[in-house]
Amino acid sequence: MDIILLGPPGAGKGTQAQRLVEHHGMRQLSTGDMLRETRKADSELGRKVSDIMDSGGLVSDEIVSAMIDAKLGEMGPEMGAIFDGYPRTAAQAEQLDEILAKHYRQLDHVIELEVNEDALVERITGRYTCANCGAGYHDVFHLPAKEGVCDKCGSTEFKRRPDDNEETVRTRMQEYRGKTAPILPGYEARGIVSRVDGMASIEDVTHAIDSILSR
Ligand code: AP5
Repeated sequence: MDIILLGPPGAGKGTQAQRLVEHHGMRQLSTGDMLRETRKADSELGRKVSDIMDSGGLVSDEIVSAMIDAKLGEMGPEMGAIFDGYPRTAAQAEQLDEILAKHYRQLDHVIELEVNEDALVERITGRYTCANCGAGYHDVFHLPAKEGVCDKCGSTEFKRRPDDNEETVRTRMQEYRGKTAPILPGYEARGIVSRVDGMASIEDVTHAIDSILSR
């Protein structure tokens, strides 16, 4: 089963994708994570990607679609893919169709996490991850069971994203409204869109997604 998790920055795409990986053995394909790896490289591409991400703008369609194509090429047909943060433009949506066809796959669900934008800044500015395993946490909504210790790997090192500041978040939201939300009607016309209340608790959002996937 291949699915897209769609929603503005902070809607909970990454959080839910990690839970789907744990519960269903699917693979999370996050273009944001892939680009964060790319930006670490001391290369022209790494610096270019870094500047774009820090501004809250979008990296080129060709770069992100090539990353998705490569990752799907590494996956067996039995493993489901969760597209997290991709596609984000009409061009990427078209490219995804071509890539899926090339790998003999098809989209089963597009799940939109509906959220109140006012809450997103608080969610994003409170977010942090384990520096070792990448598990996600939040200063208020999702603390580790033992303070300062990652639930998953026991590491005591955590990090925050440089683009998780209010100004960049506002630009990322504008990009979502202007370029990403308009791809939804195309998927609606195919009858594969489901909506979930992304303002519910993390657990309840997971239950809602699970019930969509089991239909
Ligand atoms: P990306 O990494 O994809 O960021 P994003 O889309 O802005 O989404 P986020 O990761 O910020 O939010 P999320 O929905 O995953 O929320 P999360 O689960 O962490 O992209 C970053 C940048 O890379 C872009 O700006 C762009 O420059 C570039 N990029 C990436 N993909 C691209 C593409 N396809 N094309 C072009 N450029 C691209 O949750 C947030 C916080 O809230 C967490 O702390 C979590 O614990 C908490 N939380 C989650 N759910 C709940 C809940 N239900 N209740 C309470 N708290 C919750």
